[in-house]
Amino acid sequence: MFEAQQPEGTGPGRSSSAGFYDSLLGGSHHTAADRQLVEIALRGTPHLREWARQNRAFALRAAQYCWAQGIRQFLDLGAGAPAPEPGALHEVLPSARVVYVDSDPHVVSALRETYAGQESLACVEADVLDPASVLTDPDTRRLIDASEPVAVLMIAVLHFVERDEDASRCVAGFREWMAPGSYLALSHGTIDPDTVVPPDRQFMARYAATATSLTPRSRETIVEFFAGLELVAPGVVYPPDWHPGSDDSPNARARRGSLAGVGRKRAATT
Ligand SMILES: C[S@@+](CC[C@H](N)C(=O)[O-])C[C@H]1O[C@@H](n2cnc3c(N)ncnc32)[C@H](O)[C@@H]1O
Repeated sequence: MFEAQQPEGTGPGRSSSAGFYDSLLGGSHHTAADRQLVEIALRGTPHLREWARQNRAFALRAAQYCWAQGIRQFLDLGAGAPAPEPGALHEVLPSARVVYVDSDPHVVSALRETYAGQESLACVEADVLDPASVLTDPDTRRLIDASEPVAVLMIAVLHFVERDEDASRCVAGFREWMAPGSYLALSHGTIDPDTVVPPDRQFMARYAATATSLTPRSRETIVEFFAGLELVAPGVVYPPDWHPGSDDSPNARARRGSLAGVGRKRAATT
């Protein structure tokens, strides 16, 4: 479907963050422009595919952790295109109720087409910067009981929000809405002082021409997104270090491209 909108060889100007990421992961929902951008990116940053795989693996481990804590409803903000192996959240947790939210209309129609006819999931087109539009959507209301704990996932999405204050306001909106006992799982691009490499200028210029530019943030700012929540051990760490799986990356740069964590909203005290 994406291919039909962007035929081969039409230049990189219409690449998107979703298509770029999908191409990195080896998915099928991206354009020729995305592939070109990935090729350019890999020249300067060869570990990017590994970074994307680690990010995705964190998302699924965090969701499985929440499920193990009794969470049955998931709000996946900036969900991205239908995920290739090992699959989407609802495929890994088939009994969960899942609402996928994305602002990219191509992503949302690909999600709807791929996951059509599944009663326990919905795909909502909305901007996470406007929590009310997400939370009042009829599909969100149908599947998510706001009086019950929920897992809110913000995986590799907030670094597409340029201004710190907008990102903070957006996360606060969801944190406040979440019932006590809910979880927030978040990953975010960072710049690690130990591993920082000079940005590949051609890649950065091309990426900046996509619909969403990239704003990595410091550890302090990322930790602040969990304000008021109890951080689940081991806290905010590199994604492969959060409840490590068998997919650990040996590549230090791939490990350190992002920080990730899971926070729990305390149960109400009487
Ligand atoms: C890098 S992909 C991440 C996909 C998925 N969360 C993951 O980590 O596997 C980022 C996604 O966030 C979406 N996105 C970016 N800004 C957004 C916004 N303001 N509101 C909703 N979605 C957004 C993009 O369209 C894209 O699909």
